[in-house]
Amino acid sequence: MKRVITYGTFDLLHYGHINLLRRAKSFGDYLIVALSTDEFNENKKGKKTYFSYEQRKNLLESIRYVDLVISEEDWEQKKTDMHEYHVDTFVMGDDWKGKFDYLADEGVEVVYLSRTPEISTTKIKSDLFDTNLAK
Ligand code: CTP
Repeated sequence: MKRVITYGTFDLLHYGHINLLRRAKSFGDYLIVALSTDEFNENKKGKKTYFSYEQRKNLLESIRYVDLVISEEDWEQKKTDMHEYHVDTFVMGDDWKGKFDYLADEGVEVVYLSRTPEISTTKIKSDLFDTNLAK
């Protein structure tokens, strides 16, 4: 069985996320999503999520492409995750291109997928904010 892993916040789940997860799953048979915790988002990524970790986790677990959701608690855990979860392929969107090439030293294939254009959690938040202002 070929195992794939990807990392992210996945707040306000949108079609860009679904596209990423579908394509990530197609690299293997078992897809693991390492989901940023609320603490990690706030303290290290500078993001305050709308949905809590548990809510984001439940949403991801209901997606057919996702087999397992684990927590992402720091930037350094990736190396150990590769071995602990017997990962074959590491997948991220190409906004991270080149950033995780070092994982190839752990024996995994590192893949960056093109982002879906014109959608992001940030854009949803800002569009809704603008809509409210216009009211
Ligand atoms: N992603 C994607 N296409 C998009 C948005 C996100 O392929 N339009 C991918 C990212 O490249 C990443 C994963 O989905 O691999 C999770 O991204 P995340 O940062 O949680 O989502 P964003 O919508 O980019 O959130 P933000 O605006 O807060 O950065």
